[in-house]
Amino acid sequence: MAVNLRPAQGPRLPLIAGNWKMNLDHLQAVAFVQKLHWTLKDAKHEDGSVEVAVFPPFTDLRTVQTLLDADKIPFALGAQDVSAQDSGAYTGEISGAFLAKLDARYVIIGHSERRQYHAETDEVVAGKVQAALRHGLVPVICVGETLEQREESGPTAVSVEQLEAALAGVPADADFVVAYEPVWAIGTGQVASPEQAQEVCGKLREVIAEKLGQDAASRTRVLYGGSVKSGNIASFMREPDVDGALVGGASLVVDEFAAIVRYQKHVGV
Ligand code: 13P
Repeated sequence: MAVNLRPAQGPRLPLIAGNWKMNLDHLQAVAFVQKLHWTLKDAKHEDGSVEVAVFPPFTDLRTVQTLLDADKIPFALGAQDVSAQDSGAYTGEISGAFLAKLDARYVIIGHSERRQYHAETDEVVAGKVQAALRHGLVPVICVGETLEQREESGPTAVSVEQLEAALAGVPADADFVVAYEPVWAIGTGQVASPEQAQEVCGKLREVIAEKLGQDAASRTRVLYGGSVKSGNIASFMREPDVDGALVGGASLVVDEFAAIVRYQKHVGV
């Protein structure tokens, strides 16, 4: 069994998640995970104060799972997508059952790159959230607006609508994570300000409270994503409703990702 940290009761356990997107094959993945582990271990930072999760491509998952298990590396494993179906004639799709068998704990759902390049609608996203929950996976539900949408309807409207749709039929005791990733900040270097991130993350927590109750809202981690780097992570983590980060580009550079995980060491957080 891979070591999977459960979120602490009470204060939310910060989650730093690396979304590798379509990068690193399974051999590169082994080298990367080993190096990240050694770096964090040397820095005495595998102390459980931050949950670290990696989201490799599907073809790497079995290899990374075996490595985490064999070397007792305390990173959680996640996938980047899941089918809304459980099995059958769905060529190219991956069942949540398969991911659960690999000890995957998380699955990213509704990333803007899938909404944009694979035409994933709010209905598709909601179906995938249900599939993840059926198989005991923790969905990382991604929401966020484009620049045009922000100019047209303000900073929160699109994310609120996307989250409300994704939470349809989700029970109050479900374990899930929300990631606010403004599309204009993804891979652009144009990072949201901590205040902008807080405004939307706070609003999303209100949505969780309205739909699933205060307990769910207090327990659920809301992440920020979009050009997160070691130099800006601490400023996001100081915000009351930002519980971690979903990191793209910077999650592919060992020292940079390790420094993000160690954000508590940077400026008195
Ligand atoms: P970047 O960190 O490269 O901007 O990507 C963010 C992201 O999309 C994570 O899912």
